[in-house]
Amino acid sequence: MNGRRVLRLGVLGSGRGSNFKAICRAIDAGTLPAEVRVVLSDQPAARILELGKQRGARTECLTPATARGKIDAATEEQYVRILREEKVDLVILAGFMRIVGPTLLAAFPGRILNIHPSLLPKHRGANAAAQALAAGDTVTGCTVHYVDEGVDTGEIIAQREVPVLPGDTAESLQARIQTAEHELLPSVIVDFAARE
Ligand code: GRF
Repeated sequence: MNGRRVLRLGVLGSGRGSNFKAICRAIDAGTLPAEVRVVLSDQPAARILELGKQRGARTECLTPATARGKIDAATEEQYVRILREEKVDLVILAGFMRIVGPTLLAAFPGRILNIHPSLLPKHRGANAAAQALAAGDTVTGCTVHYVDEGVDTGEIIAQREVPVLPGDTAESLQARIQTAEHELLPSVIVDFAARE
């Protein structure tokens, strides 16, 4: 690739998809040379699926056998099949509440990114904003990192700091972190595209 080719994205999410929207905004603004080929979710009612449909992307819900945690190998193979069918260059976990396993990792080595609402390695896992408040942090933030087999343990690519303000609740802090996420994640994908 020469930095001008359009990067083909696969986005995996379980929730409302505000980071997905931020990616789409960057594409539409002409700052991110990418197209969303497919949106995949483990939750049939996830708003991100609706947003993907509106975008004209392929959307599929693949519900693993277990309610939470790891994806079973058979379902993970289906994720891989669809991502390959769409010739995806880069997989983005944007609020995907599952632990990615070896099948998906092996299919896209160095090509799966996650966004997490803390300054990793602090506050891995769920409810990171609440964890930051409980720890008495005055600064927290968000991180984009490569995905490995752990929970929010992969190599850090970029981070952005966010202040914790007096009177913050987990909700108000999470909302401030998300504003930073919506800048950080597209900018990391822009950098990734430039290196291709
Ligand atoms: C984000 O805070 C992200 O860091 C975390 O899940 C949340 C997803 O939010 N992994 P959204 O669905 O993109 O609005």
